[in-house]
Amino acid sequence: MMRRSFIKTAALAAAGTAVLGAPASAMMKEGKDAGKKKVLLVNGSPRADGNTFCALQEIEKQLKAHGLETEIYQIGNKPVRMCINCGGCRRNGGKGCVFDDDPCNEIARKLADADAVVIGTPVYYGQPNGGILAVMQRLFYSAGHLVQNKPAAAVAICRRGGATATLQTMNMMFEMMNMPLVTSQYWNIAYGAAKGEVKLDKEGMQTMRTLGNNLAWLLEKIHTGDGKSAPSREEKAEFTNFIR
Ligand SMILES: Cc1cc2nc3c(=O)[nH]c(=O)nc-3n(C[C@H](O)[C@H](O)[C@H](O)COP(=O)(O)O)c2cc1C
Repeated sequence: MMRRSFIKTAALAAAGTAVLGAPASAMMKEGKDAGKKKVLLVNGSPRADGNTFCALQEIEKQLKAHGLETEIYQIGNKPVRMCINCGGCRRNGGKGCVFDDDPCNEIARKLADADAVVIGTPVYYGQPNGGILAVMQRLFYSAGHLVQNKPAAAVAICRRGGATATLQTMNMMFEMMNMPLVTSQYWNIAYGAAKGEVKLDKEGMQTMRTLGNNLAWLLEKIHTGDGKSAPSREEKAEFTNFIR
């Protein structure tokens, strides 16, 4: 889908349509006509209507205001498998993780259709919660090709501390996948403990709105730019494993 709409956009530009010089709102409309861009927002919290959800909703509102399609996906509170390094995903011809009974492959299928991803998590002991961490490790290992070059934002929600370490952990995965990191006017953090309390964190909510605006802006730049959907890149080097 991404490739199809990119070809359309490139064709419009080649045909002399005023894509590059158009004002921002018109460019968004052009993108819409050529097929709306989609952002997948993954909620790593087991609490479907908790603080992480509220923060993602705040981002989503901004994305929608910019004409983007969105979906918030909850990983839920059922058991999630960890990566067992079986290598099955490398051998099964792109079928994804061998464990097909939890959110990992479902998220992968949704990512195939998404142009950007936001992953939000509550902070548990200074880290992303165990469920989303396990899902992310399997997802990026088994379906890394589906996230390559797509803008990504990590969001951490906490009561008091550990959010920056949490963001660092999540960004480590994005950074290995050539994913442009989307930032805000503060780190992508908001504070709250009881369900919904995060909405009282005015600064945090503003951070989320700015993040949404920045993501919309970046997508617009990427998809109405010079027609390239990704920069050129060298083939993956030989694995050196720190032995030389
Ligand atoms: C197991 C567990 C560990 C937690 N660890 C931290 C922590 O390290 N730092 C913090 O500020 N809050 C911590 N919290 C609080 C949650 O991050 C906070 O309540 C958050 O708002 C929950 O988000 P949710 O409503 O989206 O689930 C912890 C909560 C749980 C259940």
